[in-house]
Amino acid sequence: MKSLVIFYSRTGTTKKVAMEIARLLKADTEEIIDTKNREGPIGYLLSGRDATLRKAARIKKPVKNPSSYDLVIIGTPIWAWNMSAPVRAYLIQAKGRIKKTAFFCTMGGSGDDRAFSEMEMILGKKPAAKLALLTKEVMKGQHIQKEKDFLKAISLKILKK
Ligand SMILES: Cc1cc2nc3c(=O)[nH]c(=O)nc-3n(C[C@H](O)[C@H](O)[C@H](O)COP(=O)(O)O)c2cc1C
Repeated sequence: MKSLVIFYSRTGTTKKVAMEIARLLKADTEEIIDTKNREGPIGYLLSGRDATLRKAARIKKPVKNPSSYDLVIIGTPIWAWNMSAPVRAYLIQAKGRIKKTAFFCTMGGSGDDRAFSEMEMILGKKPAAKLALLTKEVMKGQHIQKEKDFLKAISLKILKK
Protein backbone atom coordinates (compact mmCIF):
# COMPACT_ATOMS: atom_id res chain seq x y z
CA MET A 1 0.00 0.00 0.00
CA LYS A 2 1.42 3.36 -1.06
CA SER A 3 0.98 6.01 1.63
CA LEU A 4 1.63 9.71 1.97
CA VAL A 5 1.83 11.74 5.18
CA ILE A 6 1.03 15.37 4.43
CA PHE A 7 1.21 17.98 7.18
CA TYR A 8 1.65 21.58 8.19
CA SER A 9 3.63 22.57 11.25
CA ARG A 10 4.36 26.08 12.52
CA THR A 11 6.64 25.16 15.40
CA GLY A 12 7.67 21.56 14.73
CA THR A 13 5.37 19.45 16.91
CA THR A 14 3.09 18.20 14.14
CA LYS A 15 6.16 17.68 11.94
CA LYS A 16 7.76 15.44 14.59
CA VAL A 17 4.63 13.25 14.71
CA ALA A 18 4.34 13.22 10.91
CA MET A 19 7.92 12.02 10.51
CA GLU A 20 7.47 9.27 13.11
CA ILE A 21 4.24 8.03 11.50
CA ALA A 22 5.89 8.07 8.08
CA ARG A 23 8.84 6.08 9.38
CA LEU A 24 6.59 3.47 11.02
CA LEU A 25 4.48 3.16 7.87
CA LYS A 26 7.31 3.55 5.35
CA ALA A 27 5.30 6.36 3.80
CA ASP A 28 6.31 9.35 1.70
CA THR A 29 6.01 12.77 3.35
CA GLU A 30 5.25 16.27 2.23
CA GLU A 31 5.21 19.44 4.32
CA ILE A 32 2.64 22.05 3.35
CA ILE A 33 4.48 25.32 2.76
CA ASP A 34 2.64 28.48 3.66
CA THR A 35 3.52 31.74 1.91
CA LYS A 36 2.67 33.90 4.96
CA ASN A 37 5.23 34.60 7.68
CA ARG A 38 3.65 33.18 10.84
CA GLU A 39 6.63 33.60 13.15
CA GLY A 40 6.51 35.29 16.53
CA PRO A 41 3.63 36.92 18.38
CA ILE A 42 2.27 38.68 15.28
CA GLY A 43 2.35 35.41 13.35
CA TYR A 44 0.50 33.77 16.23
CA LEU A 45 -2.23 36.43 16.12
CA LEU A 46 -2.55 36.25 12.32
CA SER A 47 -2.83 32.49 12.49
CA GLY A 48 -5.50 32.62 15.19
CA ARG A 49 -7.45 35.14 13.16
CA ASP A 50 -7.20 33.12 9.92
CA ALA A 51 -8.35 29.97 11.71
CA THR A 52 -11.26 31.72 13.44
CA LEU A 53 -12.39 33.17 10.12
CA ARG A 54 -11.95 29.74 8.51
CA LYS A 55 -9.67 31.35 5.97
CA ALA A 56 -7.57 29.13 3.70
CA ALA A 57 -3.89 30.13 3.56
CA ARG A 58 -2.04 30.72 0.32
CA ILE A 59 0.21 27.67 0.07
CA LYS A 60 2.93 26.60 -2.36
CA LYS A 61 1.78 24.05 -4.94
CA PRO A 62 2.34 20.60 -3.39
CA VAL A 63 4.82 18.39 -5.24
CA LYS A 64 3.19 15.01 -4.60
CA ASN A 65 -0.08 14.05 -6.23
CA PRO A 66 -2.47 12.62 -3.58
CA SER A 67 -4.35 10.57 -6.17
CA SER A 68 -1.30 8.40 -6.76
CA TYR A 69 -1.48 7.15 -3.14
CA ASP A 70 -3.77 4.47 -1.62
CA LEU A 71 -3.76 6.34 1.70
CA VAL A 72 -3.15 10.00 2.54
CA ILE A 73 -2.65 10.79 6.24
CA ILE A 74 -3.19 14.47 7.03
CA GLY A 75 -1.73 16.26 10.05
CA THR A 76 -2.50 19.72 11.43
CA PRO A 77 -1.89 21.78 14.54
CA ILE A 78 -5.10 23.03 16.16
CA TRP A 79 -5.55 26.79 15.84
CA ALA A 80 -8.42 28.48 17.68
CA TRP A 81 -10.36 25.17 17.90
CA ASN A 82 -10.00 24.73 14.13
CA MET A 83 -7.63 23.12 11.65
CA SER A 84 -4.71 25.36 10.63
CA ALA A 85 -5.25 27.67 7.65
CA PRO A 86 -2.57 25.93 5.47
CA VAL A 87 -4.21 22.51 5.97
CA ARG A 88 -7.59 24.02 5.08
CA ALA A 89 -6.05 25.26 1.82
CA TYR A 90 -4.56 21.84 1.08
CA LEU A 91 -7.84 20.00 1.69
CA ILE A 92 -9.75 22.35 -0.59
CA GLN A 93 -7.20 21.71 -3.36
CA ALA A 94 -6.97 17.96 -2.80
CA LYS A 95 -10.72 17.30 -2.49
CA GLY A 96 -11.78 14.53 -4.85
CA ARG A 97 -8.20 13.31 -5.32
CA ILE A 98 -7.81 11.38 -2.06
CA LYS A 99 -8.79 7.69 -1.99
CA LYS A 100 -8.48 6.82 1.70
CA THR A 101 -7.54 9.12 4.53
CA ALA A 102 -6.77 9.39 8.24
CA PHE A 103 -6.28 12.51 10.37
CA PHE A 104 -3.98 13.53 13.19
CA CYS A 105 -3.43 16.73 15.08
CA THR A 106 -1.34 18.21 17.86
CA MET A 107 -2.77 20.75 20.29
CA GLY A 108 -2.33 22.44 23.63
CA GLY A 109 -5.60 21.09 25.03
CA SER A 110 -8.71 20.98 22.86
CA GLY A 111 -10.32 21.56 19.47
CA ASP A 112 -9.64 18.22 17.78
CA ASP A 113 -13.31 17.16 17.43
CA ARG A 114 -14.36 20.30 15.65
CA ALA A 115 -11.29 20.38 13.41
CA PHE A 116 -11.63 16.72 12.43
CA SER A 117 -15.35 17.09 11.64
CA GLU A 118 -14.62 19.99 9.37
CA MET A 119 -11.72 18.21 7.66
CA GLU A 120 -14.10 15.31 6.97
CA MET A 121 -16.72 17.72 5.66
CA ILE A 122 -14.32 19.46 3.26
CA LEU A 123 -12.98 16.18 1.87
CA GLY A 124 -16.39 14.51 1.86
CA LYS A 125 -14.63 11.46 3.20
CA LYS A 126 -14.62 9.67 6.57
CA PRO A 127 -11.13 9.08 7.98
CA ALA A 128 -10.12 5.47 8.68
CA ALA A 129 -8.77 6.69 12.05
CA LYS A 130 -8.14 9.89 14.01
CA LEU A 131 -5.33 10.74 16.41
CA ALA A 132 -5.21 13.80 18.67
CA LEU A 133 -2.02 14.39 20.67
CA LEU A 134 -1.13 17.02 23.23
CA THR A 135 1.95 19.12 22.51
CA LYS A 136 3.35 18.28 25.94
CA GLU A 137 3.00 14.50 25.50
CA VAL A 138 4.78 14.73 22.13
CA MET A 139 7.56 16.83 23.70
CA LYS A 140 7.99 14.27 26.49
CA GLY A 141 7.87 11.34 24.04
CA GLN A 142 4.77 9.89 25.75
CA HIS A 143 2.77 9.49 22.55
CA ILE A 144 4.46 6.62 20.72
CA GLN A 145 1.94 3.94 21.75
CA LYS A 146 -0.92 6.17 20.54
CA GLU A 147 0.82 6.50 17.16
CA LYS A 148 1.13 2.72 16.91
CA ASP A 149 -2.55 2.26 17.87
CA PHE A 150 -3.50 4.83 15.23
CA LEU A 151 -1.64 2.90 12.52
CA LYS A 152 -3.19 -0.36 13.72
CA ALA A 153 -6.68 1.17 13.53
CA ILE A 154 -5.97 2.37 10.00
CA SER A 155 -4.76 -1.01 8.80
CA LEU A 156 -7.70 -2.86 10.42
CA LYS A 157 -10.18 -0.50 8.80
CA ILE A 158 -8.56 -0.57 5.39
CA LEU A 159 -7.97 -4.34 5.33
CA LYS A 160 -11.62 -4.96 6.29
CA LYS A 161 -12.85 -3.27 3.13
C1 LIG B 1 -2.72 30.62 16.53
C2 LIG B 1 -2.74 29.42 17.41
C3 LIG B 1 -3.94 29.01 18.01
C4 LIG B 1 -3.98 27.86 18.81
N1 LIG B 1 -5.19 27.44 19.29
C5 LIG B 1 -5.26 26.28 19.99
C6 LIG B 1 -6.53 25.75 20.42
O1 LIG B 1 -7.61 26.28 20.13
N2 LIG B 1 -6.54 24.61 21.14
C7 LIG B 1 -5.39 23.98 21.49
O2 LIG B 1 -5.47 22.94 22.13
N3 LIG B 1 -4.17 24.43 21.09
C8 LIG B 1 -4.08 25.56 20.34
N4 LIG B 1 -2.85 26.02 19.90
C9 LIG B 1 -1.64 25.27 20.25
C10 LIG B 1 -1.16 24.38 19.09
O3 LIG B 1 -2.20 23.60 18.55
C11 LIG B 1 -0.08 23.41 19.56
O4 LIG B 1 0.96 24.11 20.19
C12 LIG B 1 0.46 22.55 18.42
O5 LIG B 1 1.11 21.41 18.95
C13 LIG B 1 1.43 23.32 17.54
O6 LIG B 1 1.85 22.49 16.50
P1 LIG B 1 3.11 22.83 15.57
O7 LIG B 1 4.31 22.89 16.47
O8 LIG B 1 3.18 21.70 14.62
O9 LIG B 1 2.86 24.15 14.91
C14 LIG B 1 -2.78 27.15 19.09
C15 LIG B 1 -1.58 27.58 18.51
C16 LIG B 1 -1.55 28.67 17.66
C17 LIG B 1 -0.27 29.07 16.99
